[in-house]
Amino acid sequence: MHRQTWLITGCSSGFGSLFVTEILRRGDHAIATARSLESLESLMEAGASCLQLDVTASQAELDAKIEMAEAMFGPIDIVVNNAGYAEVGILEDSSVLMNRSQDVFQRQYDTNLFGTVKMTRSILPLFRRRRAGIIVMMSSVGGNVGMPGASPYFSSKFAIEGLSECLRLETSHLNIRTLVIQPGMFRTSSLTTRSHRNNNSGREDYAALNETMGAAHSMQGTQRGDPTKMVMRVVDLVKGTGLAEGKPMPETLPMGIDAVQAIRLKCEKTLRNLQDWEEMSCGTDY
Ligand SMILES: NC(=O)c1ccc[n+]([C@@H]2O[C@H](COP(=O)([O-])OP(=O)(O)OC[C@H]3O[C@@H](n4cnc5c(N)ncnc54)[C@H](OP(=O)(O)O)[C@@H]3O)[C@@H](O)[C@H]2O)c1
Repeated sequence: MHRQTWLITGCSSGFGSLFVTEILRRGDHAIATARSLESLESLMEAGASCLQLDVTASQAELDAKIEMAEAMFGPIDIVVNNAGYAEVGILEDSSVLMNRSQDVFQRQYDTNLFGTVKMTRSILPLFRRRRAGIIVMMSSVGGNVGMPGASPYFSSKFAIEGLSECLRLETSHLNIRTLVIQPGMFRTSSLTTRSHRNNNSGREDYAALNETMGAAHSMQGTQRGDPTKMVMRVVDLVKGTGLAEGKPMPETLPMGIDAVQAIRLKCEKTLRNLQDWEEMSCGTDY
């Protein structure tokens, strides 16, 4: 197989950084991107090509970055839309961030959703012209199953799921494939205050929920999922190696026992609901 070139967003830590390490280990070419180039120094020393890239930049800026990446490093085969973080908080309390002037949802969607939309729009013309390309979307179990206090983050991931399903149907005839990864809880820095922002207004009616959300940070370092193992499996899915050898690439894949269990329960509940209400649902035609 030819040496593939991957471009990954959000490589300063966590999955992004591990993707780069694993891609290099496989002998592929990694273009590591992050908001700050300094955060990529060790990946550069390990052999990655590096590029400053903030996914909240304008569409024109991101288009120019992708064009520059190809001019400098050659055609990109795979884009991993990995950059993201979590805004958590009660929906009623999430209009304006405390001590900040921006709507929690707007801020969350700017990175997790619109960042992904813009990055995908930047790469599509190049993939389309070449009739080849793979887009990996880092969704979440939270893109499938809701949880109290997580509506800004989870809804941004639900949107990624819908976006990806439409994108796949629009572009599969152009040999552009979209793979959605739905991780459960993995031991990256995702529950630190940098990546997991709790918007607690202190409203008494939601006190118990706010307490639970506040306690999430204390779980940092104890998440059951090993991110190195997850990243190796995603690379296997893209390259058709290891457990993925000889199988067609799935459209979506939960990662981690917690994600599998939660998504299975949701599917069963959805099926039960369809059955229980079929007469009501199907009685609306002329
Ligand atoms: N770990 C989990 O359990 C888990 C579960 C489900 C889904 N995920 C998803 O996996 C992805 C990676 O998260 P992680 O667990 O590896 O957490 P992480 O270690 O906190 O990494 C998040 C990365 O996203 C970057 N980022 C944030 N905003 C950005 C922006 N505007 N432009 C470019 N990069 C930006 C961060 O860079 P800075 O250093 O510049 O902030 C950081 O490199 C995220 O999309 C997350 O939602 C993680």
